[in-house]
Amino acid sequence: MEIAEVRGDVARHSPALRLLHWLVAALVFVTWPLGLMIGFVKDDVKLDFYLVHESFGFLILWVMLVRLGVRLTADSPAIQGPAIERAAASSVHGLLYLFLVLMPVTGFLATNAHGFPLKWFGLFTVWSPLGKAPDLAWALSAIHEWSAWILLALFALHIGAALFHHLVRRDGTLYRIL
Ligand code: HEM
Ligand code: HEM
Repeated sequence: MEIAEVRGDVARHSPALRLLHWLVAALVFVTWPLGLMIGFVKDDVKLDFYLVHESFGFLILWVMLVRLGVRLTADSPAIQGPAIERAAASSVHGLLYLFLVLMPVTGFLATNAHGFPLKWFGLFTVWSPLGKAPDLAWALSAIHEWSAWILLALFALHIGAALFHHLVRRDGTLYRIL
């Protein structure tokens, strides 16, 4: 079957949602590895890795809030397929939204609690809602780190499903978001 034919039949997400999907994906593909690298880089560049990771991560929070607003107000095409697949897809999408908000919030609060207010790309200091709170700091860091691996598993499921639809089913699902 010609993919180009299929494209015409596929109900797509709104242009704003499609743009936001790829913007967040690009930001996450930079932010996630940078977070992991913090633990491995030499001390003289560690602070730079913290700064860039935290600044991109904080940006994701605001882009995600805009995206949630668009998602809740714009019409989105219903997911196709058997009930079990629709339920699986909605659950993974819902969890992706949840973790993409939870991760920057816990990261941001953790750095605050450790006593390091965020200096966004070195431009200005973001107001710290917590201040230094050593008791909370380790719990927030632990949630941030565990969530990172849950998020990675969700990416694997999500991208695996997208590839399966595109390469095996050849049903045009990918065009809903392109
Ligand atoms: C969606 C956004 C974010 C993602 C995907 C993300 C991802 C990660 C990952 C993968 C790690 C390494 C975890 C590990 O070593 O097991 C990490 C660590 C870290 N992240 Fe993030 N992060 C995000 C946002 C933020 C933000 C906004 C901040 C702070 C303003 C932040 C601060 C940190 C810090 C300080 C660490 C070092 C370990 C720790 O103390 O928890 N992150 N992050
Ligand atoms: C190569 C990478 C990716 C591909 C091929 C891809 C593909 C897709 C496709 C085809 C859809 C539409 C599903 C449908 O409505 O039936 C979708 C939706 C979605 N994707 Fe991705 N995606 C990718 C990366 C990501 C990443 C990195 C994230 C998270 C940061 C993400 C989060 C989402 C979410 C939350 C939705 C649901 C949209 C909504 O219903 O509002 N995607 N993606």
